[in-house]
Amino acid sequence: MNKKTVIANFKMNKTNAEVKEYIKVFKKLVKGKDANIGICVPFTDLALAAKMLKKTGILVGAQNMNENDKGAYTGEVSSAMLKDIGVYATLIGHSERRSYYNETNATVNKKVAKALAEGIRPIVCIGENLDERNNGKTNAVLKKQLTEGFKDIDVEDFKDVIIAYEPVWAIGTGVVPTNKQIVDAMASIRKTLTGIYNADVAEATIIQYGGSVNEKNAAEIASLKGVDGALVGGAGLDPNKFNAIIDGFLAAK
Ligand code: PGA
Repeated sequence: MNKKTVIANFKMNKTNAEVKEYIKVFKKLVKGKDANIGICVPFTDLALAAKMLKKTGILVGAQNMNENDKGAYTGEVSSAMLKDIGVYATLIGHSERRSYYNETNATVNKKVAKALAEGIRPIVCIGENLDERNNGKTNAVLKKQLTEGFKDIDVEDFKDVIIAYEPVWAIGTGVVPTNKQIVDAMASIRKTLTGIYNADVAEATIIQYGGSVNEKNAAEIASLKGVDGALVGGAGLDPNKFNAIIDGFLAAK
């Protein structure tokens, strides 16, 4: 069984002072817990978070990263800049990046390749929107996102990838898919990964569920076949709630 991997995505929330307060509380709450735990904070909070969480085992991630080395890319942040401040993970292709900032499977692919080449762990988000779900296209959409997103990514490099299955219609809405919908999506993702790589790699890949996870539904979601963890938005902004979610995942068999 893959180690439970529970990561919060702060999105565009929290100043330095707020992150500092959060980490002070959170560090104590999760100390010694046997899970991969992480927070993906805004760029402006990364250096502070990385410093405060050094040697705690809690992963600090960015929410985006540019695929180029350096140069005239106004507003962007490179892999070298992340590593320079002790950040070795990043979300890639979150649905908000895909829908508001036109990120495509092709850009996701370039960012994944760059991150892996630089030793930065990519947490790659995929998921269908409501229209695609209602039209029976979920599996096809996931397959396309995976096939194009991991095009030419070597099997050895791929082992560092975390996948977050986040149905767009469940993000920030309070609507959670049925258990069957989650289990089916996980199976569909692993089937595609088996095709791209092999069954062992598919099984060993950490796949999180994301979308309206909270302290009440965490344990049930955690118990579903194929769910290795969660990517948590809103509920992750409160260290106590996020800690309860982690406990929900650790309680699941
Ligand atoms: P949510 O967001 O938990 O607020 O639905 C999840 C995400 O966007 O990663």
